[in-house]
Amino acid sequence: MASEHTGGIVERVQDFVSENKRAIIIGTAALALAAGGAAAYYASTSSRPRGPGDVEKAERREKKKASHGKGSHGKKKKGVKDQDGPILEERVPPPKVEEVSEEALTAEQILAIPEEERTKTAASLKTKGNTAYQNRNFTQAAALYTRAIEVSPKPEPVFYSNRAACYVNMSPPKHDLVVLDCDEALKLDANYVKALNRRAIALEGLERYEESIRDFTAATILDKFQNQATASAVERVLKALSTKKAAEIIAVRGARLPSFTFISAYFAAFRPRAHPTLPENPSTGDNTLILALEALAAADYPHAVTLINESLEQGISWDEGKAEALNLRGTFKFLVGDVEGAKVDLTESIKLVPSFTQSIVKIASVHMEQGNAKLAFECFDDAIKQNQNDPDIYYHRGQVLFIMNEFTDAAMNYTKSTELDGQFVFSHIQLAVAQYKSGNVANSMATFRRTLKAFPQRSEPQNYYGELLMDQQRFEDAVEKFDKAFEMEKQKVGTIPNVLPLVNKGLALYQWKQDITEAEKCCNEALEVDPECEAAVATLAQLNLQQSKIGDAVKMFSRQAELARSEPELVGALTFKYATLSQMEFLKNYPSMAAQLNQMAMNMA
Ligand SMILES: *[C@@H]1O[C@H](CO)[C@@H](O)[C@H](O)[C@H]1NC(C)=O
Ligand SMILES: *[C@@H]1O[C@H](CO)[C@@H](O)[C@H](O)[C@H]1NC(C)=O
Ligand SMILES: *[C@@H]1O[C@H](CO)[C@@H](O)[C@H](O)[C@H]1NC(C)=O
Repeated sequence: MASEHTGGIVERVQDFVSENKRAIIIGTAALALAAGGAAAYYASTSSRPRGPGDVEKAERREKKKASHGKGSHGKKKKGVKDQDGPILEERVPPPKVEEVSEEALTAEQILAIPEEERTKTAASLKTKGNTAYQNRNFTQAAALYTRAIEVSPKPEPVFYSNRAACYVNMSPPKHDLVVLDCDEALKLDANYVKALNRRAIALEGLERYEESIRDFTAATILDKFQNQATASAVERVLKALSTKKAAEIIAVRGARLPSFTFISAYFAAFRPRAHPTLPENPSTGDNTLILALEALAAADYPHAVTLINESLEQGISWDEGKAEALNLRGTFKFLVGDVEGAKVDLTESIKLVPSFTQSIVKIASVHMEQGNAKLAFECFDDAIKQNQNDPDIYYHRGQVLFIMNEFTDAAMNYTKSTELDGQFVFSHIQLAVAQYKSGNVANSMATFRRTLKAFPQRSEPQNYYGELLMDQQRFEDAVEKFDKAFEMEKQKVGTIPNVLPLVNKGLALYQWKQDITEAEKCCNEALEVDPECEAAVATLAQLNLQQSKIGDAVKMFSRQAELARSEPELVGALTFKYATLSQMEFLKNYPSMAAQLNQMAMNMA
């Protein structure tokens, strides 16, 4: 409920984001190309032949084809480590290829064998390893690959990758060893997708998420986005990383107010109420509370927070005043993400003044933030018992129903709210949007036109009507509404104009004419007016990606993370940031792939 009026745009940006997910991956490609000369490297990338014999099913067929004629090997034992002891060692003749021993050789013994035979021995050890692997004897298979590596004058990447596969299958899996083996395999062949995938999985198991994403991303791109499992692995690990980082950030950064726009939107969601009247002989705390309410009325939120705290510390002498102060402190706690603290203050304010329905409604939003709709609805019922004619209750119940996609019930509750008080513009707007969402387009448009007429001084109906027009691809009309809305916002004195109409205009121009330059101009103008406008930052980040300005995009995602109030918002911003960073790293590690990636981008477009 907190994000109700910014919700429209945030949602839109998120849709925009998911629609353009592919473009985000592709976005980086053009950059590298632009960085110059990348195409020249193209030929060298796939030049390294992949040795057959990877142990995974998918390659078995290929292996059969490729490795026939390499001979099979008897089980005949050759007593290298003779019972007679070390004296005989140097006299031991090199083993014949066909007679691979079950025993390991010493380094000296290996060096005594001609290179060509060592290569053949290694190959047959690998084949035996593959057999053991297929028999699911992973310890034995790993030992055989180890010997193949030891005996081979030039170990193939597949030896390491196959041994890694053995470690993967041991229980518990030996992730550390998987990583080390894949390191070796990838040193020999940087384009070895299977080794990349294995290492990525092991790194994920070790919670080394950044490296895991690096490998999964490389595997996805090298596989030309054809492997669905790898693509969803990228998303899975990105989510794990972003969630972990978000928790770390929240733990250190502590309480912080969200943007001005956000706070204004939250307060605007409740009807203005008369200030409580001061008692005859007001205490210091009482007077501080009045100052706090004045600061709030002037939209000076940081000052208001301090004063509210002070007033409660100084002591408020009458119940209505104290309940008001607790309501406000609880509200600010809610806004900084301290939902438990918010609940405590709001509950206490109701204890002092049981009919304080606004506090009850705000507790409902706390329950929603904690994902408990049932408790939220109980709050609304309680509030109705206190004052069944409070229009705020029905409006906010409508909001909860709206979030839950119960648009018909939501519309009924908004209607009830407007019947009790027709002067609250958001009930009308939300009614129109709920009608639109439930497929009732004609009614919705009619509601909007009525609302525009009834609130000629308000920018919000223009802005949200514009959003619906944009959704219907009526871009020219939408832009006109956004322009009008922002003009009205600019007329406001003594407060920061709401810049959402400007950001919306940018999005409309982008969708309408693919005019990125104009879209960016709108967002930048919005940020000049309100540097903390999350929607502008999020949109700019996406527009930067579209133009392959990766560094700028990462900066914007970082900024978006800084501005994010709630954990889900933070996770969202971080996900994009790390996704973009991993693609940057891919292009750094695989500069030769830029041309191919660009080609893929063109084919996908
Ligand atoms: C794996 O192979 C080794 C050596 O041949 C043998 O000793 C061991 O019993 C086998 N393990 C299983 C589980 O088959
Ligand atoms: C106000 O008080 C609350 C709780 O007592 C505290 O968490 C918060 O940091 C305080 N804020 C300011 C600006 O003093
Ligand atoms: C509001 O929503 C509730 C569902 O929570 C529904 O039972 C009720 O009928 C709706 N309408 C009004 C006017 O309250």
